[in-house]
Amino acid sequence: MGAMDIQGLRREYADHGLDAHELAPDPVDQFRFWFKQACDAGIREPNALVLATAGGDGSPASRVVLLKAFDARGFTFFTNLGSDKALDLVANPRASITFPWVDLERQVHVRGRVEPVSAEETATYFRSRPRNSQLGAWASRQSRPIASRADLERAFAEVQARFPEGEIPVPENWGGLRLIPEALEFWQGRPSRLHDRFLYERSAGGWSVKRLQP
Ligand SMILES: Cc1cc2nc3c(=O)[nH]c(=O)nc-3n(C[C@H](O)[C@H](O)[C@H](O)COP(=O)(O)O)c2cc1C
Repeated sequence: MGAMDIQGLRREYADHGLDAHELAPDPVDQFRFWFKQACDAGIREPNALVLATAGGDGSPASRVVLLKAFDARGFTFFTNLGSDKALDLVANPRASITFPWVDLERQVHVRGRVEPVSAEETATYFRSRPRNSQLGAWASRQSRPIASRADLERAFAEVQARFPEGEIPVPENWGGLRLIPEALEFWQGRPSRLHDRFLYERSAGGWSVKRLQP
């Protein structure tokens, strides 16, 4: 196969299976189980997810962000609140996130509504970040144009001078967003493209699960 033979790139997915009787009744428990396996497998940035949004005009956009917390309430990431993604979510809070754990022949896909986390949660996480990352958040108007790298480094030097020591406050335009799951799909690659897919959907009494065709 030549280096550019993309059509020839294929693998038989045979590492794992996923059966209905192994599924946790609660999808967040199932996610915790798979997330731990992704961490234990040593894959790079197992908390990297693809966040898809569609703004007011309905046109979709996706990008990678890092999961920083998850629990029964949902999946939390942090970002600039003036960024394109955040503005999309103001216009349309519905979003989709995908964890592409291809090394494990797995993906988890979650859909739902996004809400801001509390100011306390944002502050707690912001304070846990390295000082230079905190300064970086102050220095960048994420997703807006800038003329040069030099201008960006000048903006960083300015915030370094503004906060030479002591606690750095949380920038007003920076914070956590939480996707509240309504549907979660766990995908496990299997031989002959007969993959295992299970979809959890929120129902009146909790969660329902169905198997989907591959
Ligand atoms: C591995 C990786 C991790 C990233 N993590 C974050 C993150 O946690 N938060 C964030 O705002 N951007 C993160 N980014 C950058 C985003 O992909 C994106 O470029 C940025 O948020 C601006 O997106 P937007 O213009 O669609 O708002 C990450 C990118 C990569 C490749």
